[in-house]
Amino acid sequence: MEKNLLEKINQAPEEEPARQYFFMKLAKELVEAKSKEAKRPLTFDVVTFGCQMNARDSEKLVGILEGAGYIKSESEESDFVIYNTCTVRENANLKVYGRLGSLKRVKRRNPHMMIGLCGCMMQESQVVEKIKKSYPFVDLIFGTHNIYKFAELLVYALVNNSMVIDVWKDTDRIVENLPVDRKYSFKSGVNIMFGCNNFCSYCIVPYVRGRERSRNPEDIISEINQLVSDGVKEVMLLGQNVNSYGKNLEYPVTFAELLEKIAAIEGVERIRFMTSHPKDLSDELIRVMGRYPKICNHLHLPLQSGSSKILKDMNRHYTKEEYLLLVDKIRKSVPDISLTTDIIVGYPGETEKDFEQTMDVVRKVRYDSVFTFIYSKRTGTPAAAREEQVPKDVVKDRFNRLLKEVQTISAEQINRFLGTVQEVLVEGVNEQDPSLVTGRMTNNVLVHFPGDVSMIGTFRQVHLETCKGFYYMGKER
Ligand code: 5AD
Ligand code: SF4
Repeated sequence: MEKNLLEKINQAPEEEPARQYFFMKLAKELVEAKSKEAKRPLTFDVVTFGCQMNARDSEKLVGILEGAGYIKSESEESDFVIYNTCTVRENANLKVYGRLGSLKRVKRRNPHMMIGLCGCMMQESQVVEKIKKSYPFVDLIFGTHNIYKFAELLVYALVNNSMVIDVWKDTDRIVENLPVDRKYSFKSGVNIMFGCNNFCSYCIVPYVRGRERSRNPEDIISEINQLVSDGVKEVMLLGQNVNSYGKNLEYPVTFAELLEKIAAIEGVERIRFMTSHPKDLSDELIRVMGRYPKICNHLHLPLQSGSSKILKDMNRHYTKEEYLLLVDKIRKSVPDISLTTDIIVGYPGETEKDFEQTMDVVRKVRYDSVFTFIYSKRTGTPAAAREEQVPKDVVKDRFNRLLKEVQTISAEQINRFLGTVQEVLVEGVNEQDPSLVTGRMTNNVLVHFPGDVSMIGTFRQVHLETCKGFYYMGKER
């Protein structure tokens, strides 16, 4: 490394986020120099795999890359391509390897190109080993705990010819006030906590996202105040298990208390949150949901399985009966709420009888929408060591039966709003038909209706004219 560059790096302040702003400036100088050499502006592309948490993290990556002087592009032919990876199921990993294979050819053609990898997959040591061996053209690897250090790592990658790797096992650190580039002007995700302490037996998340850490309520409120002054109307509070928010704060605050504080902010028109673990869903939360119209009429309440035996093995801490009672309680306090869920089929030891219990819950609850997953063995989780893995053909058959059932039920459920007038927040122009706009109802269902780009980010009263299974066609009133 050049001597004066090394001297500059040594001058970096220790405290955060000042240190990262320092590195962002340095990255900008380096990118400018590279850009002069290339005789064109340098571009970047952030590719997101996985959940809403990753989507929010990607907005942070974009904020930093823009701060470093790169220009956003949506092409993997860009000069800096970074994959924000997911590892919750095996096919998420396979996708990343497949796409890395094609990136190699792109990089061969572009001497300025750099490739970064971050996110959950990078927290697994065998993944990093595989990349070092089979994909040595990757320039930068970091994990979930040190994403706040991206500006600093970017500088190291820009000045190093070999692969820069920085993956931490865990952290108790939360760095506030880093730049973010939001994808939507009118809605935004807001992290309220990181990590998960539940260790559901099939799930890799606690190993790759670390222990639960809650942000201070004051930091969350101040971020939302800022978002509102920037024009945001809808916030989505994000955490792996929002119902256990605040338990480990110096001055504990419940999730319900946090929601009330956010509902009191003028200008916040809609509040969503994800994800709720049934075992921690309090009566206080149900009351608050019923009391504030700003809190959206939607609850995502992962079931995973309807069999109490399987639930016990999964370490979920509720039975089928307790789950059903909870659903009853919620429906009494928040009439017409839309319930959605996650279900895993083919968990080790799942018998036909266990599967029938899952079907039974599906028929009783009548979800508006269900995310169905085939069990995926994740190395290092307790379930991966179970011997009674269910044969593939049996799993496939159960999966298809479940899918058919949930599709029929959700189409009937969604249809219950037909003919009513609903408030819709317009999200964008319809991609297939530009004479239409697409908006979202409070219960998360999409509505397409005639409109134009000027409506984006506004609330409209829309008459729901036809139901197309998962969405509506409507007309503004
Ligand atoms: N196999 C299949 N699905 C899984 N999920 C988490 N881990 C696994 C796994 N090993 C599902 C759960 C969770 C959702 C985000 O992903 O249903 O709620
Ligand atoms: Fe995984 Fe369970 Fe934590 Fe959800 S609550 S992230 S399923 S361990």
